[in-house]
Amino acid sequence: MTDHLTIVDHPLVQHKLTLMRKRATSTSEFRRLLREISQLLAYEVTRNLPLDTRVIETPLMEMDAPQLAGKKMALVSILRAGNGLLDGVLELIPSARVGFVGLYRDEETLQPVQYYFKVPESLEDRLVIAVDPMLATGNSSVAAIDLLKQAGAKDIRFLCLLAAPEGVARMKEAHPDVQIVTASLDSHLNEKGYIVPGLGDAGDRMFGTK
Ligand code: URA
Repeated sequence: MTDHLTIVDHPLVQHKLTLMRKRATSTSEFRRLLREISQLLAYEVTRNLPLDTRVIETPLMEMDAPQLAGKKMALVSILRAGNGLLDGVLELIPSARVGFVGLYRDEETLQPVQYYFKVPESLEDRLVIAVDPMLATGNSSVAAIDLLKQAGAKDIRFLCLLAAPEGVARMKEAHPDVQIVTASLDSHLNEKGYIVPGLGDAGDRMFGTK
């Protein structure tokens, strides 16, 4: 684990990830597990959010109690698989604004092609959490972060389910300021750009397409 990469090795995360990796896991089960893991990962990606205190009354006494300091946030889903992480995280941070970056991967060149970009205003004042389950080559993740920085974002974290060493290295080179939080650093990419051992195509598995 480095500052740039945080691997969430919590037993609940690892157990649910194993269930998701299994070929036999159904679409509905996969989606449910992804939602559950997204909330456990959200716990880690928000770990150092600033707190202040306010005086409240418990049934017993007054106390100076911690509360979130009100840092504005934006969750940005990298379509389409990012949506599988988005809802669970949004449930925990309901006041966050939401953006979408539409990128698909050209299967021949493995390069990202943009088809949609819509993000909240004043990104420069927000903690931006970009979500995409798979950090594979890193090409689309780096392109998405490029776009977010062009739109003003300065404080960005990247939340994914699985990462490949190649994608982590690419992100570190292009965006060393962006912390990556993931459930697993897998072995490598295969010749088609899939993460090995991985879980297959995350979008297809969560939406039942193929
Ligand atoms: N995208 C996926 O959905 N799966 C991979 O293994 C790599 C990229």
